Amino acid sequence: MHDPQVVAERLLKTSAEHPDADAHIDWETPFEEGAWFMPPEWVSLYGTPLWRGMDEASRVELSRHEMAALASGGIWTELCLMQMLGRYMAGRDLTDSRTRYALTEVGEEARHSLMFARLISAMGCRAYPPPRRVNHLFSLTSVVYGQVGTFAVTLLSEEVNDLVQREGMNDERVHPLVRQVCRVHVVEEARHVGFARTELAHAVRTASPANVRIQRELVGMTACAFMAHRMPAAVYRAVGLDPATARRQALANPHHRALLQRSGRKAVAFLTEVGLIGPGQRHWWRRAGLMP
Ligand SMILES: [Fe+2]
Ligand SMILES: [Fe+2]
Repeated sequence: MHDPQVVAERLLKTSAEHPDADAHIDWETPFEEGAWFMPPEWVSLYGTPLWRGMDEASRVELSRHEMAALASGGIWTELCLMQMLGRYMAGRDLTDSRTRYALTEVGEEARHSLMFARLISAMGCRAYPPPRRVNHLFSLTSVVYGQVGTFAVTLLSEEVNDLVQREGMNDERVHPLVRQVCRVHVVEEARHVGFARTELAHAVRTASPANVRIQRELVGMTACAFMAHRMPAAVYRAVGLDPATARRQALANPHHRALLQRSGRKAVAFLTEVGLIGPGQRHWWRRAGLMP
């Protein structure tokens, strides 16, 4: 087991050594004709009947809107994390290294949100915020997360989006500007994941069994809500597809379902290891599409 103080000290040092990675992004990088905005295999309709009926330009256009939706989802989850980290810090010793790292992480998430907003504008796209009711639901449930729920939800949102960005940053078919943004985010999120894992393991060890039982259900429900709004129907409408048909085909797409399960593998394994996913909670994670 890692000592949370030791981990926080190490992460603070690394963050201080790389204070503003996003400042090195070249926002003047031109968009290349015909290049993708994410690897085509990651587009939710890849391989479906609708996909087979689209020409190459329409597929690329869909990848532009799906990347804008992922970046919008990134901003929304970062705003959620900032609220949860704010509650974590309230009442803690502000000179403590764990509190100072949480504050550092809030600063990094704020920079990421600005970076994603700038990317959406640079791509000439609109933002795709989640429905208002999802925001309200988060405001209501997040107050009962406690530290176990806070770091489980943090870990979930950070690890699930890692794979698509990791593959995107290494894919030469993808626009260089998108790849630069993905690279900055992957590197900085690796530190956040280290913090969330250590804090979560510590929080579970020190929480009461009754609290852990409640948090298991809450985190499972949150995973379902989080994944249900990952790709809004509006992205399909934006490229001239029937949103209901496209959403149905995307949700049933075996190729995309397999990618989402791969995306969830690390977080699901860790949450299982610390006892936050047991046999009684697997139905949430299957419904979220993160578990086979
Ligand atoms: Fe982030
Ligand atoms: Fe993060």
